[in-house]
Amino acid sequence: MKVPFSPPDITEEEINEVAEALRSGWITTGPRTKEFERQIAEYCGTEKAVCLNSATACLEQSLRVMGIGAGDEVITTAYTYTATCSCICHVGATPVLVDTLPGTFEMDPQQVRNAVTEKTKAIICVDLAGIIYSKYDEIFQIAEEKKVLFHPSNERQQALGRIMVMSDAAHAFGAKQNGKICGQIADFTCFSFHAVKNLTTAEGGAAVWSKTVTESGIDSEKLYRDYMLLSLHGQSKDALAKTQAGAWEYDITDPYYKCNMTDIMAAIGLVQLKRYPEILEKRRKIIGKYDWALKDLPVEVLTHYDGQNISSGHLYMVRLTGKTREECNAVIERLAKKDIASNVHYKPLPLLTAYKNRGFDIQNYPNAYRQFANEITLPLHTCLSNEQIEYVIKEFKDAL
Ligand SMILES: Cc1ncc(COP(=O)(O)O)c(C=O)c1O
Repeated sequence: MKVPFSPPDITEEEINEVAEALRSGWITTGPRTKEFERQIAEYCGTEKAVCLNSATACLEQSLRVMGIGAGDEVITTAYTYTATCSCICHVGATPVLVDTLPGTFEMDPQQVRNAVTEKTKAIICVDLAGIIYSKYDEIFQIAEEKKVLFHPSNERQQALGRIMVMSDAAHAFGAKQNGKICGQIADFTCFSFHAVKNLTTAEGGAAVWSKTVTESGIDSEKLYRDYMLLSLHGQSKDALAKTQAGAWEYDITDPYYKCNMTDIMAAIGLVQLKRYPEILEKRRKIIGKYDWALKDLPVEVLTHYDGQNISSGHLYMVRLTGKTREECNAVIERLAKKDIASNVHYKPLPLLTAYKNRGFDIQNYPNAYRQFANEITLPLHTCLSNEQIEYVIKEFKDAL
């Protein structure tokens, strides 16, 4: 039996909606993207949402709309995917990586506190595996404590009046913590709709901002307009507006970037969003089965659902107690021989060439290294049949 790691869950409905978009005569950013943005904002309970071609673009442009760039520092975790950090490099700011709390995948807030300098403009937290980071309160407290060090360099930074707190919620669309849905906690939150994500548009992402931003006096409409300019060449009219008869003329406000979402992508997203409650429920059931089957094994798993958290159930990360990376790799290989695809989330950033070359040394991230050393991720997706789940469990137990 073949078990892929995370294939997209696409029904005839998505296919029909894409065909409709193709037949409509408008395939790039247009009515479907705007409607998808409206529905995402509604789902997240935010004033607005911006859809772009990836979470990476959303993270990057969220830093830019707040005027973060060269000369600034942005703190994030060593235990994440490169995009959490590469967005900092893309805007020309300096990434500052901190270690995880011992025995967890979560960024250590005390180390964040120690890393703040007069140059710190943002902290990026990661809602890993679909579970909202548990230390946002402390991160906001740090931003408050360190206000004396904060030197705003534009009106928006001045309005916020402190270090901006951002969430890389690539995994966590629809997750909840203490009754708040992801998008309402950090100042800015970015989701991924990449092909392997819970809700996909093939490639894609969304950025939202919470009340902490709007109540500081930052204007949502202007913010939205800036995302639009940044994602479409700095062009004063988007393609749809430009194509209206007689409305050809436009200006370029700055030589910006090109990372807009297309209506074909949004067509997939609109149907996925409609199906999303059912998708989340299916993931929850699969996690329940895995949790039950693994409960007496020498492994540690994440708690996706408890009194505080309702995870989006994105990744089933397992740590094999007392095992080395080599032993874990042997488990991955053995599963592969049985046609089961598993994975590793993540190799800490200081182990990757790009970040080694920037001076990061894994010796300074012993907790992140220990988390990585015995981690493997089992397949978790909504195309899994009960037989496949049983098969994964059996083969995983045998391999272990
Ligand atoms: C934690 C994290 N952040 C950001 C991203 C980037 O998402 P995208 O591919 O939509 O840019 C990913 C993608 O896997 C991720 O896992």
